[in-house]
Amino acid sequence: MSRRIAVYPGSFDPLHNGHLDIVARCLPIFDELVVAVLQNEEKQPRFSVDQRVEMLHDVLRPMGPCRVESFSGLLVDFADRVGASAIVRGLRALSDFDYEFQMALMNRRLNPRVETVFMMPKEEYSYLSSRLVKEVVGLGGDVSGLVPPLVLERLRT
Ligand code: PNS
Repeated sequence: MSRRIAVYPGSFDPLHNGHLDIVARCLPIFDELVVAVLQNEEKQPRFSVDQRVEMLHDVLRPMGPCRVESFSGLLVDFADRVGASAIVRGLRALSDFDYEFQMALMNRRLNPRVETVFMMPKEEYSYLSSRLVKEVVGLGGDVSGLVPPLVLERLRT
């Protein structure tokens, strides 16, 4: 039987506990999870792509069969390159749905061999986003318990 490989793509700027919750939900379902960091030169990121990949790598290593890569270009082409049959996206609230639905259908049109799978994180993370983490930290607020300790440390430096 072929191995079930999934791609979990995103900006991960930075990784937070909602992302980790989705990874943990994927691991029993797929044989391998490829966490894919988008190389997006248009945005002004808090962390470089290399820093994000390194943090993800360090945090995810003990969790199970996942690897971390960066990618540019079309997500569905990256999914093909790594042999993935699924794209995983976290769905926090109804507000995510519109954008996610459009992306899922466009990706399916571009590559019908790759199916998008939505996963809901724990309710306690349903309001959590990388954007809010950065905003709160930038204004001196406390995000401990919302990001892994390694990310917390890096956000403070
Ligand atoms: O965490 P994000 O920023 O919401 O992730 C968005 C991401 C990386 C999934 C999306 O921007 C993407 O897939 N970009 C790659 C380019 C691409 O394939 N675009 C067409 C999508 S329909």
